[in-house]
Amino acid sequence: MQFETKAIWAGQEADKTTGATIVPIYQTSTFTQEEVGKHKGYEYSRVANPTRTALDICLASLEEGKYGLSFASGLAAEHAILSILRPNDHIIVPEDMYGGTYRLIKEVLEPNNIKVTFSDFTDLEAVKAAFLPTTKLIWIETPTNPVLKIFDIQAIAEFSHKKKAIVVVDNTFATPYFQKPLLLGAHIVIHSTTKYINGHSDIIGGAVILNDPEIYEKIFLIQKTVGAVPSPFDSWLTLRGVKTLAIRMRQHEQNAFQVAEFLKTSSNVEKVLFPGLKDHPGHDIAKKQMTGFGGLVSFRIKGGLKEANLFFKKLEIFQLADSLGGVESLANYSALMTHESFPAELRQKIGVTDNLIRLSIGIEHIDDLLLDLKSALK
Ligand SMILES: Cc1ncc(COP(=O)(O)O)c(C=O)c1O
Repeated sequence: MQFETKAIWAGQEADKTTGATIVPIYQTSTFTQEEVGKHKGYEYSRVANPTRTALDICLASLEEGKYGLSFASGLAAEHAILSILRPNDHIIVPEDMYGGTYRLIKEVLEPNNIKVTFSDFTDLEAVKAAFLPTTKLIWIETPTNPVLKIFDIQAIAEFSHKKKAIVVVDNTFATPYFQKPLLLGAHIVIHSTTKYINGHSDIIGGAVILNDPEIYEKIFLIQKTVGAVPSPFDSWLTLRGVKTLAIRMRQHEQNAFQVAEFLKTSSNVEKVLFPGLKDHPGHDIAKKQMTGFGGLVSFRIKGGLKEANLFFKKLEIFQLADSLGGVESLANYSALMTHESFPAELRQKIGVTDNLIRLSIGIEHIDDLLLDLKSALK
């Protein structure tokens, strides 16, 4: 089955009891049992719920994985994965990553004695040099939030396989429509489904997809024990959103290309960051491991916070907001929004400068988007 078909049908066959064509919202916390231990596969919705199961199956299928687990947020999904680590285990993570992941590592992992090395993942030798005998896991986010760096999943995975370390890829920005990390050698894919997977900026959610039964059992145990699960309604909204993922991603990318090309011509723009541009340092790797470049475009405006604020104020269609990946266009000032938990020097080092603006390009008509940007940049 092709991607578009799986997005609509995987895990979503007609309801066996009623024939409902669309997966119902099983808004129930509990399930009646015929006798002790005899039930229809569901007992209590923290452990499993049929609407969530449909989403789990669909997401696993889109990522070409065996198991899917949906969570209450992307960070809850990340936390569940990282909870399989034990004190003194070592992990390697990129210097560039979503600010919330950085905060999770700094505020939760490190105080619990997980050892962390931050490394430059554009340099494979640096990643190799960071390996220790206690290294259990490598965390990849590509393209990165917000500077859209590209890391070579296959090269890092090949090395990690030799060292028997688990490779996790945050695939939130690319989505399985453009990038399938499990096919490139990763063990685990994580998503903030809040973003493109749901696509309509009306839920917070996360997902973990993987093939290894042992790791699956560990993460499932954490999920049911901790209970950071999405509600049946949020699972249903996410299922409805994911049905149009392919068509949305094609349009996001088409619009993103035009926005990137336009920004390059603006005299008030210092630098455009979009992996689809030939001069992007990660362009060749992106071409190798992705089938499209996504819908995010970041740029450096001439000036700093003052000029950025002027730009944000003049925008009419683009909304100044956290988040990304919805059908609507958003603009974000990463230094003080998504990445405020980063120390200032690290922000500078990874390029989250005071003039960096991240645009999540929506699927509105491109003429309207370009007009909005043009007048705001004047
Ligand atoms: C790349 C990436 N990963 C993970 C997350 C965390 O997801 P959530 O906000 O759903 O917890 C985000 C949120 O912005 C993100 O951009």
